[in-house]
This record gives sequence, C-alpha cells and structure tokens, in this order.
Amino acid sequence: MPKPGKLGEQSDRRVALVTGGARGIGLEIVRRLLVDGYRVAFVATKADHLERALNLLGFSEEQLYAERIDVTRHNDVQVFVDRIRERWGEIDILVNNAGISPKRVDQNAPWLSQTSLDEWARVIDVNLTGPFILIRLLAPAMIAKGNGRIINVGSLAGRAMPMVAGPHYAASKAGMVGLTRAAARDLAPYGVTVNCIAPGRILSDLTGSPEAAVNRTALSRIPVGRFGTAEEVAHVVSFLASPMAGFITGATIDITGGEFAA
Ligand SMILES: NC(=O)c1ccc[n+]([C@@H]2O[C@H](COP(=O)([O-])OP(=O)(O)OC[C@H]3O[C@@H](n4cnc5c(N)ncnc54)[C@H](O)[C@@H]3O)[C@@H](O)[C@H]2O)c1
Repeated sequence: MPKPGKLGEQSDRRVALVTGGARGIGLEIVRRLLVDGYRVAFVATKADHLERALNLLGFSEEQLYAERIDVTRHNDVQVFVDRIRERWGEIDILVNNAGISPKRVDQNAPWLSQTSLDEWARVIDVNLTGPFILIRLLAPAMIAKGNGRIINVGSLAGRAMPMVAGPHYAASKAGMVGLTRAAARDLAPYGVTVNCIAPGRILSDLTGSPEAAVNRTALSRIPVGRFGTAEEVAHVVSFLASPMAGFITGATIDITGGEFAA
C-alpha cells in the first residue's frame, strides 16, 4: 500500500494530459498549461484540427505532443499514455475536457423523442466513460507519487435545468459531478485532488456564433451580460492544477457569469 501524501505537494517534473485539446476550451487549457511551464500532451479526434492547433501553439516537441485518439477507445488511450510516460515520465495533471453535445434536429419536438439509444450511449461514452477510464488509468501512478491533479470539465447543463442541451449531455455532465466526488474521496489521502469545473455559455465551435438565436436567448439569462471566454475557463484549470489549490477537492466550480451559483 503506498504511503499517503499531502495535498499541495508538487514535483518539479510536471506533465499534463488534456483531452479534446485541438480547439475551443481545450485548446486554451493546453495553451495556458504550456505558458505555466508544463509539458502538455493532448488528444483530439480530428487530424486537421490537431495539426492546426499544433501550428498555432508553436511549442517544441519537448513541451507539446499530440495524437489523434478517441477517448472511448481504451486500448488506444492506454498506448498513448504509455508513450507519454516513455517520453516524459508520469502524468501529474489530467484534464478531462473532451466532450460532445449533439444538436436537436427538430426544435419543435421534445428532445427525449429524438434521442436514439445509440446517440445516448455515444454521449455517455465520450463525456463520462472516457474520463472514468483515464482517471482509473492514471490514478495509481499519482497515488504512488503522492501527488496529482485531476480536473473534469462538466457543464452548467449538469447543474441546473438544461435550456438547450439534450438529456444525454445533461446526464453525462451531472454524472461528472458524481464521478468527481467519488474519485476525490478515494484519492484525497494520497495527495491527489479531483475537481470539476462547470462552464456556462462559452463561445466556441460547440456553441456556435453569438448571433445564433439560441445564443441571443442564452445571453439574456447571464447576469454579467456577456458570454464567457475559453481563456477564463483555462485560468480556473490552471489554478486547480497548481500547488495553491491543494485544499480544494471534490468541488465543482461554476464558471457561468452568475447564471448559476450553488
Ligand atoms: N462551450 C461551452 O459553452 C461549454 C459549456 C459547458 C461545458 N463545455 C464543455 O467543455 C468541453 C469543451 O467544449 P468546447 O466548447 O471547447 O467543444 P469543442 O467541440 O469546440 O471541442 C471539443 C474537443 O473535444 C474533442 N473530442 C470530441 N470527442 C472526442 C473523443 N471521443 N475523443 C477525443 N477527443 C474528442 C474534439 O476533437 C475537440 O477538440 C466539453 O466537455 C464541453 O461539454 C462547453
């Protein structure tokens, strides 16, 4: 049995793995962690987005490494993690950011009637099972080190009645809150913190243009009167990954411009 560590301890060699790092919020998290001095590995599903992100970021292979991996393909994820370990050693920070949110085909029909079992299973797989697999894969080494940070990207849609998202998305993101608490309970004695962030409306490819009708309605509900930015989300991740956040675990931090406050 490994010795319990202390929350807040940090090794000098810090390696972060971010899922869905090729665009949107994930890309800004990757950028932020690189600026913070981490070595960052990320995965995403689209090769062209991945290439574009690598070119945009412009860091050397000593600091930045990415592969096209689907987080639901357990063997591929295992091989990727092994490759990172060979290159850089153990992974200190895991950011479970990859997520999908199918759009409703018929705005006038209820979501429930439009959600096939296949679509339900795919969303739960990507948004919830993928993070579980990665936590289970990386936690033993974090426990052995007595140090680690896991940050799960949830959503306002998992915290309050979803205005736009489907039942699968809302359930997966609510599940992220429970997964975070359960993992935090298990890992806290070993110096590993597990937290969730729950962004509200952040402009990205997933949410579309600010002019879209759905976004205009969304804006009217945000007390600060604007959408959030991916950079603002990335700063919260940066803090939770840092030694300063060692006494925060099992928490879900809302980043919603006041739209939701628990
Ligand atoms: N944008 C928002 O307003 C908002 C609000 C709340 C929560 N979120 C959450 O934040 C996260 C990022 O959202 P975004 O807006 O940047 O989305 P996005 O669609 O712009 O980017 C998602 C990224 O995840 C990757 N991805 C998708 N499925 C994957 C899979 N199976 N395996 C590996 N990578 C995969 C994509 O390749 C892409 O790089 C998601 O979990 C999303 O649910 C977003």
